[in-house]
Amino acid sequence: MSDKSNQGVALITGASTGIGAVYADRLAKRGHDLILVARDEARMNALAERLRAEAGVKVEVIKADLTDKADLVKIEQRLATDTAITALVNNAGVAGANDFVATDPEAFEKMIQLNVTAVTRLASAAARNFVPRDTGVIVNLASVVGLMPELGMPVYGATKAFVLYLTQGLRVQFANSAVRLQAVLPGATRTEIWERSGSDIEAMDPNMVMDVDDMVDAALAGFDRGELVTIPSLPDAADWDNALAAKAKLYPNLSRSQPAARFKA
Ligand SMILES: NC(=O)c1ccc[n+]([C@@H]2O[C@H](COP(=O)([O-])OP(=O)(O)OC[C@H]3O[C@@H](n4cnc5c(N)ncnc54)[C@H](OP(=O)(O)O)[C@@H]3O)[C@@H](O)[C@H]2O)c1
Repeated sequence: MSDKSNQGVALITGASTGIGAVYADRLAKRGHDLILVARDEARMNALAERLRAEAGVKVEVIKADLTDKADLVKIEQRLATDTAITALVNNAGVAGANDFVATDPEAFEKMIQLNVTAVTRLASAAARNFVPRDTGVIVNLASVVGLMPELGMPVYGATKAFVLYLTQGLRVQFANSAVRLQAVLPGATRTEIWERSGSDIEAMDPNMVMDVDDMVDAALAGFDRGELVTIPSLPDAADWDNALAAKAKLYPNLSRSQPAARFKA
């Protein structure tokens, strides 16, 4: 995904609009051929046509609903076997369903299918392709909501915490591999996800809302710097390192033979 030509093929999920469509634009301009995956074929075809003309890259469009098992398996098979693919941008996701009592559990299941199951299975397929060849990039779109249960978005936030944890855990497993991983944690970003999930982004403090182009450019700058976790709005990367260090202080005491003295009568 660096700034050179002949970068191989990037497969981007959720590429019909929003963050995925901007990744498509930027990766085409970095010399990647593309496979665009989402449900809205017409929108992807229009984007593909523009990128072929502007960037001179090959763009394939695959219509797939990643909550549909047959469609998901089709994308997985391609990811696992096509050695021209050098990058996966695991981006498709839905938000909303915040009221835990009022929401139909089917909506939770659908969200988990897309935000967790599809992300995991596609990362797994990409890893089977990349790890044996010691090359490739997996970018997973998480969210700052995954760090902040206080926002009161328990299921969406949990799916995004999962994506962060998955990425960090894979980094441990692939420690001796050249396969690159990145979790991107956007804050509020101006895309259709808000309207789709029944929220009004215009009601938010504009100082908290990032333009989607700026968000993706910052995520790519973080990638270029070698970051495992990129929070595009965070001014001081040391704040993230300090948060990790504070958590690491717990580790020596998280599994011991005896309950802590404070629990004894
Ligand atoms: N925007 C934000 O504020 C924000 C903040 C933090 C994290 N994120 C994360 O960033 C990612 C992209 O979000 P976005 O803001 O770009 O959202 P978006 O504008 O709503 O776009 C979502 C993309 O996912 C695709 N998609 C949705 N359901 C799908 C399905 N069942 N199968 C295949 N594709 C599906 C959509 O295309 P089709 O409808 O054509 O299928 C669309 O291309 C998500 O994972 C989101 O959680 C967004």
